[in-house]
Amino acid sequence: MKMIQHQTLTIAGAIVLLLFTATSYAEVDAHARNLAASCAACHGTNGHSVGGTPVLAGLDKALFVNQMKDFKSGARPATVMHNHAKGYTDEEFGKLADFFAAQKR
Ligand code: HEC
Repeated sequence: MKMIQHQTLTIAGAIVLLLFTATSYAEVDAHARNLAASCAACHGTNGHSVGGTPVLAGLDKALFVNQMKDFKSGARPATVMHNHAKGYTDEEFGKLADFFAAQKR
Protein backbone atom coordinates (compact mmCIF):
# COMPACT_ATOMS: atom_id res chain seq x y z
CA MET A 1 0.00 0.00 0.00
CA LYS A 2 2.75 2.42 1.00
CA MET A 3 4.57 1.57 -2.24
CA ILE A 4 1.54 2.40 -4.36
CA GLN A 5 1.02 5.73 -2.60
CA HIS A 6 4.63 6.63 -3.20
CA GLN A 7 4.41 5.79 -6.89
CA THR A 8 1.19 7.73 -7.23
CA LEU A 9 2.81 10.76 -5.64
CA THR A 10 5.84 10.48 -7.91
CA ILE A 11 3.66 10.27 -11.00
CA ALA A 12 1.49 13.15 -9.82
CA GLY A 13 4.63 15.17 -9.20
CA ALA A 14 5.94 14.43 -12.65
CA ILE A 15 2.64 15.48 -14.23
CA VAL A 16 2.58 18.75 -12.29
CA LEU A 17 6.16 19.43 -13.36
CA LEU A 18 5.34 18.70 -17.01
CA LEU A 19 2.27 20.92 -16.95
CA PHE A 20 4.21 23.73 -15.30
CA THR A 21 7.01 23.49 -17.86
CA ALA A 22 4.58 23.38 -20.78
CA THR A 23 2.67 26.39 -19.43
CA SER A 24 5.72 28.58 -18.97
CA TYR A 25 6.93 27.87 -22.50
CA ALA A 26 3.46 28.50 -23.90
CA GLU A 27 3.29 31.90 -22.19
CA VAL A 28 6.53 33.13 -23.73
CA ASP A 29 5.47 31.91 -27.15
CA ALA A 30 1.99 33.37 -26.87
CA HIS A 31 3.30 36.83 -25.99
CA ALA A 32 5.79 36.87 -28.87
CA ARG A 33 3.11 35.51 -31.20
CA ASN A 34 0.66 38.23 -30.13
CA LEU A 35 3.25 40.92 -30.81
CA ALA A 36 4.11 39.40 -34.17
CA ALA A 37 0.46 39.06 -35.17
CA SER A 38 0.22 42.82 -35.77
CA CYS A 39 3.03 42.56 -38.34
CA ALA A 40 1.24 39.84 -40.33
CA ALA A 41 -1.04 42.27 -42.16
CA CYS A 42 1.92 43.52 -44.19
CA HIS A 43 4.73 40.99 -43.64
CA GLY A 44 2.58 37.86 -44.06
CA THR A 45 1.79 35.05 -41.61
CA ASN A 46 4.79 34.48 -39.31
CA GLY A 47 6.82 36.84 -41.48
CA HIS A 48 6.30 34.96 -44.75
CA SER A 49 5.73 37.98 -46.94
CA VAL A 50 3.91 37.37 -50.20
CA GLY A 51 5.52 40.41 -51.79
CA GLY A 52 5.65 44.17 -51.36
CA THR A 53 7.31 44.00 -47.92
CA PRO A 54 10.53 42.33 -46.72
CA VAL A 55 10.39 38.70 -45.52
CA LEU A 56 10.88 38.61 -41.74
CA ALA A 57 10.92 34.80 -41.38
CA GLY A 58 14.42 33.58 -40.57
CA LEU A 59 15.84 37.11 -40.29
CA ASP A 60 19.03 37.32 -38.20
CA LYS A 61 18.22 38.47 -34.64
CA ALA A 62 20.86 41.20 -34.43
CA LEU A 63 19.95 42.52 -37.88
CA PHE A 64 16.27 42.55 -36.95
CA VAL A 65 16.85 44.45 -33.69
CA ASN A 66 19.17 46.96 -35.39
CA GLN A 67 16.62 47.63 -38.13
CA MET A 68 13.85 48.17 -35.59
CA LYS A 69 16.02 50.55 -33.53
CA ASP A 70 16.99 52.47 -36.67
CA PHE A 71 13.32 52.75 -37.66
CA LYS A 72 12.47 53.96 -34.15
CA SER A 73 15.20 56.61 -34.12
CA GLY A 74 14.61 57.58 -37.73
CA ALA A 75 18.16 56.58 -38.75
CA ARG A 76 16.72 54.30 -41.45
CA PRO A 77 14.34 55.95 -43.92
CA ALA A 78 10.94 54.27 -44.09
CA THR A 79 7.38 54.74 -45.25
CA VAL A 80 5.46 53.09 -42.41
CA MET A 81 8.00 51.32 -40.18
CA HIS A 82 8.85 54.46 -38.18
CA ASN A 83 5.35 54.40 -36.74
CA HIS A 84 5.35 50.67 -35.98
CA ALA A 85 8.78 50.62 -34.37
CA LYS A 86 7.87 53.46 -32.01
CA GLY A 87 5.22 51.28 -30.38
CA TYR A 88 7.67 48.72 -28.98
CA THR A 89 10.29 48.55 -26.23
CA ASP A 90 13.80 47.12 -26.73
CA GLU A 91 12.69 44.05 -24.79
CA GLU A 92 9.80 43.54 -27.21
CA PHE A 93 12.19 43.97 -30.16
CA GLY A 94 14.14 41.06 -28.63
CA LYS A 95 11.04 38.88 -28.35
CA LEU A 96 9.99 39.70 -31.90
CA ALA A 97 13.54 38.98 -33.12
CA ASP A 98 13.48 35.55 -31.42
CA PHE A 99 10.06 34.79 -32.87
CA PHE A 100 10.91 35.70 -36.47
CA ALA A 101 14.40 34.16 -36.36
CA ALA A 102 12.77 30.86 -35.36
CA GLN A 103 10.50 30.85 -38.44
CA LYS A 104 11.73 28.82 -41.40
CA ARG A 105 12.45 30.82 -44.55
C1 HEC B 1 1.46 48.70 -42.78
C2 HEC B 1 2.34 47.64 -43.23
C3 HEC B 1 3.41 47.15 -42.23
C4 HEC B 1 3.24 46.68 -40.97
C5 HEC B 1 1.92 46.51 -40.19
C6 HEC B 1 4.55 46.30 -40.49
N1 HEC B 1 5.50 46.54 -41.45
FE1 HEC B 1 7.53 46.18 -41.27
N2 HEC B 1 7.82 46.97 -43.14
C7 HEC B 1 6.83 47.51 -43.95
C8 HEC B 1 7.44 48.16 -45.11
C9 HEC B 1 6.71 48.84 -46.23
C10 HEC B 1 8.84 48.00 -44.95
C11 HEC B 1 9.97 48.61 -45.81
C12 HEC B 1 10.44 49.87 -45.10
C13 HEC B 1 9.39 50.97 -45.11
O1 HEC B 1 9.06 51.48 -46.19
O2 HEC B 1 8.87 51.34 -44.03
C14 HEC B 1 9.04 47.22 -43.72
C15 HEC B 1 10.27 46.83 -43.24
C16 HEC B 1 10.48 46.11 -42.08
C17 HEC B 1 11.77 45.60 -41.61
C18 HEC B 1 13.11 45.71 -42.33
C19 HEC B 1 13.42 44.37 -42.94
C20 HEC B 1 14.64 44.36 -43.82
O3 HEC B 1 15.04 43.25 -44.23
O4 HEC B 1 15.18 45.43 -44.13
C21 HEC B 1 11.55 44.99 -40.42
C22 HEC B 1 12.59 44.33 -39.53
C23 HEC B 1 10.13 45.09 -40.14
N3 HEC B 1 9.51 45.77 -41.17
C24 HEC B 1 9.52 44.59 -39.02
C25 HEC B 1 8.16 44.74 -38.72
C26 HEC B 1 7.59 44.29 -37.49
C27 HEC B 1 8.33 43.57 -36.38
C28 HEC B 1 6.27 44.63 -37.54
C29 HEC B 1 5.22 44.40 -36.47
C30 HEC B 1 5.53 44.94 -35.17
C31 HEC B 1 6.03 45.29 -38.81
N4 HEC B 1 7.21 45.34 -39.50
C32 HEC B 1 4.80 45.76 -39.24
C33 HEC B 1 5.46 47.44 -43.73
C34 HEC B 1 4.85 47.08 -42.53
